[in-house]
Amino acid sequence: MTQYKIPVIAGDGIGPEVINEGKKVIDFVGEKYGFDVSWIEYPFGAEYYLKTNKLLDENDLKELGKYKAIYLGAVGDPRVAPGILEQEILLKMRFYFDQYVNLRPVKLLPGIDCPIVGKKPEDIDMCFVRENTEDFYMSAGGHVINPQAHEKTKKGKESKTKAQRTIEIKRELYSVKFDLDIETDADEIAFQIGMVSKKGTERVMKYAFDLAEKRRKRVASVDKVNVLSYIYGSWRNTFENVSAKYPEIETEHNYADALAMRLIRDPESFDVIVTPNMFGDILTDLGAVLQGGLGLSPGANINPNGTSMFEPIHGSAPTLKGKNEANPIATIWSGALMLEQIGEKDAANDILNAIMKVLEERKIRTADIGGKSKCSEVGDEILKIIKRDN
Ligand code: NAD
Ligand code: IPM
Ligand code: MN
Repeated sequence: MTQYKIPVIAGDGIGPEVINEGKKVIDFVGEKYGFDVSWIEYPFGAEYYLKTNKLLDENDLKELGKYKAIYLGAVGDPRVAPGILEQEILLKMRFYFDQYVNLRPVKLLPGIDCPIVGKKPEDIDMCFVRENTEDFYMSAGGHVINPQAHEKTKKGKESKTKAQRTIEIKRELYSVKFDLDIETDADEIAFQIGMVSKKGTERVMKYAFDLAEKRRKRVASVDKVNVLSYIYGSWRNTFENVSAKYPEIETEHNYADALAMRLIRDPESFDVIVTPNMFGDILTDLGAVLQGGLGLSPGANINPNGTSMFEPIHGSAPTLKGKNEANPIATIWSGALMLEQIGEKDAANDILNAIMKVLEERKIRTADIGGKSKCSEVGDEILKIIKRDN
């Protein structure tokens, strides 16, 4: 029997409930396919932070880095200021493990009514490849406050303040240091630096093109080169260069706003969509709606040569916490992506088939997709289907 060790961070809100269902399903298919998973539970999240003041330190990261895959529920809690848990746990892992691909399949499954009238499963089958380590997500920014802003100088001008800020980014691919001399007469400013690197862009694009080769051979790139010309001009150049190496792949580039519109108007025209980090965050929530909602939308943060992390694209949904009402399918499906990544493709397919059947049968489903069933009943039903149909 093959043994796997997989760290689990159930996290906050509905995280523990949906992760339980995911582990339950994976344990069950493991018995069938001859593998066994020892789950190594980690307490990171709001509760742990509020009790110990700890988030995720270098030792924790080193420990987690011993494994090929991490299974994550969600982080984020109304008792903690926005961004602390999200940046210091989730983004920290994505960056530390250099999980440069955020893979988010958008596939309408049979048994789910698409909110766009008339769209069928064959119309909605695309895959987002979101760059996951750069762009406006690098936490590179600052604040400058000028207490004298409204005092006039002798010459009648607003008084200025000066400030220096040093921002350092250290990554596996490169390091960058910005030394900023700031002078302003505004009372308060805040700024955030977005950055892309050629190598960082190339590698995620290659991943997208390789994926498209196995699918319908189309890649759409997202940018906003008409306004953010430096960062997305570089993104677009790299897209042109990488696409030249894949002559059999049909390509197009889109402004992010226009792409949002096209996702609704003609979703069938998309196969693989490669996108910078921030637009990808927004567009994949939109993509989620096309496939029936966040409760059905899986995700994977991939470093093909390192530690990857598998999580639904939804968050901790605090209002549903502890009610056993959340839809666990996004997390179970993310678990299937994890099994595929570690080499258990047949088990992964079994899970996806069972997800499709539970939806098609329309008996057991959670409230977000029009049912009355509990979160744990969905997991139980998926086990029943796997047992029944094989
Ligand atoms: P959310 O995804 O948690 O919830 C958005 C909406 O979708 C809510 O109405 C919620 O009830 C519903 N929803 C989400 N998942 C569902 C599920 N499985 N079943 C049924 N309904 C579901 O987004 P939010 O409300 O913007 O964020 C809540 C917290 O989660 C914030 O702290 C946010 O930063 C964090 N967050 C974390 C992650 C992550 O850990 N990967 C991702 C997104 C948001
Ligand atoms: C997601 C989330 C995260 C992101 C947040 C919680 C940091 O919204 O996984 O989509 O913006 O990537
Ligand atoms: Mn998001």
